This record gives sequence, structure tokens and C-alpha cells, in this order.
Amino acid sequence: MPGTHGDKATRARSFGAAADLYERARPGYPDDAVDWLVPDGARTVLDLGAGTGKLSRSLVGRGLDVIAIEPLPEMRAALTAAVPEVRALAGTAEQIPLADASVDAITVAQAWHWVDPRRATAEVARVLRPGGTLGLIWNRRDDRVDWIVQLTKAMGSAEVEVMDMDAVEIGPPFGPTESFVTEWSRPMDVDLLVEMTASRSYVITATPRRRREILAGVRRVVEADAHLGTDFTLPYRTYCYRAALPT
Ligand SMILES: C[S@@+](CC[C@H](N)C(=O)[O-])C[C@H]1O[C@@H](n2cnc3c(N)ncnc32)[C@H](O)[C@@H]1O
Repeated sequence: MPGTHGDKATRARSFGAAADLYERARPGYPDDAVDWLVPDGARTVLDLGAGTGKLSRSLVGRGLDVIAIEPLPEMRAALTAAVPEVRALAGTAEQIPLADASVDAITVAQAWHWVDPRRATAEVARVLRPGGTLGLIWNRRDDRVDWIVQLTKAMGSAEVEVMDMDAVEIGPPFGPTESFVTEWSRPMDVDLLVEMTASRSYVITATPRRRREILAGVRRVVEADAHLGTDFTLPYRTYCYRAALPT
């Protein structure tokens, strides 16, 4: 069940305790999604709620000048270790420590559901240059696949998995929200899948007993499916949204 272990603010802070696990176990983002998210001509990009820099490193790989904002010091430390080219600053989506109209694009990967969207939208609009874009991206397991349905039952759902992806709307002062969905598969084995489950906020904040139950349940789903074997792939759908400020 979503949201059963601790309040949302506690769960949002919980990632710090598991920064290394997060960095090891969580997926990055597929190239076509990153290409779609950042407009041609952008040079300075702010990756907001950057975590350990899973998206930031793809932005750096495109030759962009990347600033990362992340509230948790443990996540920022892991980001700096993984992508030292990025300027990592403390801050939140609601309070960004950058000047007005100072960046060309802002990305928010797997994090917009943690923010106060009304305050964050106003703050993002302040920091973007006229015509700048806000891009949101989420990876979701592809629950059209049978064993993924079993996996989701064993894992429990995070907020992001109960969000209605058709209803994501950035809103004024931004123009219309455009969307793009892409499919991909991540090479996986059962130990990595268990670690990835353990890196989720509601598992980090669960009681030790509940955490053991969830992780054992995940292992059982893989072991019960003879088709998966030891090395398999985890199918994802990646949902992207973008909207631009008026010029
Ligand atoms: C699921 S992680 C995603 C991290 C990274 N963007 C990625 O794609 O792996 C969510 C991140 O949002 C951060 N976060 C939580 N509340 C936030 C807020 N109000 N403003 C900015 N970031 C926030 C958390 O500290 C955490 O690092």
C-alpha cells in the first residue's frame, strides 16, 4: 500500500539514509527520453531533486552545463562522487538558490511527486529564462507484463505508481504540457531487484519486519517464474512531460 510507512515528509527525507544503495540500484533514463526532455539550444540546465545524479550524468554526457539542486547532503555527496563536473547545491524545488532567469531548462526526474507543485511551479518559472522549459520524467515498471504485476503486488506501490500519468499538467505560467512515453528494458538479477526495492522510501521507512517481508516477497516472485532465470530484464515505460514559458 502506498504511503503506509511514515508521513510524506519523513519518506522524502529517507533517501539520505540509503544514498549508496540508491546509486547502486536505481535505473538511469533512456537516451530518447533525455533527448526529448531538453530542448535544442539549451546550454545551462538545472536538474532539480537530482538525488545521486542519475539524470544529471546523462545531461553532462550531452555537453550541457549542469547545476544540480538536492536537499539531502548524503544524496549530494553521492552525486558529486559520481559526476564531479556538476555543481551540486543544497535547495528544494520550492526554494531554488539561483538568480531569476538564469537557466535555459530545468529537469525533475522521479521527484516532482515529492514537491508542492504550486510553489515549485512558481519558483521554477522565476529561475528559467523566458522561453525556457520545465521537463518532468518518471520511470515506471511496465505493468502490462504478467510477472511485473506479481512483482508490484510483492513490492507495494510508491506514490509514483498510483499517480495518473494521463493527468500530469504543469500549468500556468507555462504553456501547454506535451508528453512522450518510451519503452526500454533494464538488465537485472534478483539481488539487484531486491536492492532496488530496498532503496524505495516506503521500504526504507518500514519496520524491519515489514522490510524483510517485502524483500523476501520480491525474491519469491522471481524464483517462482521459471522463465526469468538468473539474469533477466525489467521492462520499463518512461513518461516524460515538458512545457515552456512564454518568450
Ligand atoms: C526518487 S529520488 C529521485 C532522484 C533523482 N532525480 C533520480 O532520478 O534518481 C527523489 C529525490 O527528490 C528529492 N526531494 C524530495 N523533496 C524535494 C523537494 N521539495 N525539492 C527538491 N527535491 C526534493 C529527494 O531528496 C530525492 O533525492
